[in-house]
Amino acid sequence: MSEFKPLVFSGVQPTGNLHLGNYLGAIRKFVALQESHNCIYCVVDLHALTAQIVHQDLVGQTRSITAAFLAAGIDPKAHIVFNQSRVPQHAELAWIFNCVARIGWMNRMTQFKDKAGKDRENASLGLLAYPSLMAADILLYRATHVPVGDDQKQHLELTRDIAQKFNSDFSDRIAEIGLGVEMQVGKELINGYFPLTEPLIDGPAPRVMSLRDGTRKMSKSDVSDLSRINLTDDADTISKKIRRAKTDPQALPSDVEGLVGRAEADNLVGIYAALCDRTKAEVVTEFGGQQFSAFKPALTELAVDVLSPISEEMRRLLNDTTHIDAVLADGGERASAIADRTMTDVKHIIGLQC
Ligand code: TYM
Repeated sequence: MSEFKPLVFSGVQPTGNLHLGNYLGAIRKFVALQESHNCIYCVVDLHALTAQIVHQDLVGQTRSITAAFLAAGIDPKAHIVFNQSRVPQHAELAWIFNCVARIGWMNRMTQFKDKAGKDRENASLGLLAYPSLMAADILLYRATHVPVGDDQKQHLELTRDIAQKFNSDFSDRIAEIGLGVEMQVGKELINGYFPLTEPLIDGPAPRVMSLRDGTRKMSKSDVSDLSRINLTDDADTISKKIRRAKTDPQALPSDVEGLVGRAEADNLVGIYAALCDRTKAEVVTEFGGQQFSAFKPALTELAVDVLSPISEEMRRLLNDTTHIDAVLADGGERASAIADRTMTDVKHIIGLQC
């Protein structure tokens, strides 16, 4: 029985500064996965158009995310790093998926509801169809694993729904042409073309929360810069932000159960654990009983140790945009070769002339 080859795909939008949430929820995992998997990492510039069509400096933002990937340790030679708009098949497959997916599925997406707000009629059609483009990003490479933060979980479930519906709508064609891979879906053994992708959301900080409010996600769009640590922040700024991070008056607990109901404490412990690849249980074993006045300086030191080399290297790389552009061009070519094969198969399966 043939099987899908394990392949990792993930993407980051070139909108605004990258922050600690992006780093711990996504980029740090991208780096680790390179050891065990073939990986494709994409700066998803077409996604950036869904919220607003006019941008100040999309090229500069795209370079900046690429610089962050490289500075964090992604190897663009052993793996693939590129920007989405270089490979037109993303948009092409997204169109097919727009015709596979149902409007009801899109309407249920919490991120769409949040971003569209009360004035849904005025949101772009692209914002509604966003998850369909995201599914296309992943399935264009028939990727099996997708490292993301917890906020993308629902989009990945939808990606599986789209893959499953495509596989079942075209099951006869897929079998007839011999393009299928056998896979177990529930109790059934089916012959599918697209894998049912697995999200990789584990780790101690799948959702890094705001430093000002432990019940809200750390986000690029928060009006308060004190709510997040940006990858470009210097040591003094990181130190100030952690010092001013909201906490409660109690000491740290000695076991993880003691973090329940203490959103801010839980968040800071999770950040510490993720930054040094330990579990939250290990961190509270070390710091249990200590006050935040002792824990915060330790967290600051760790955060500066991990983040400063990355921001320094980002600055260095951004002085040489020719190198960054060459990385994206090379990655784009290698991604196109895979994308081309998939689109040829998909057209064949659907019955489009090509
Ligand atoms: P984006 O650009 O908003 O965020 C990039 C990655 O960072 C993660 N993330 C977080 N993780 C933990 N805590 C947080 N506070 C936090 N904030 C952001 C996100 O989960 C994400 O992994 N739709 C995606 C981009 C995308 C994509 C894809 C991802 C487009 N196509 C295909 C995977 C596969 C997004 O807007 O991420």
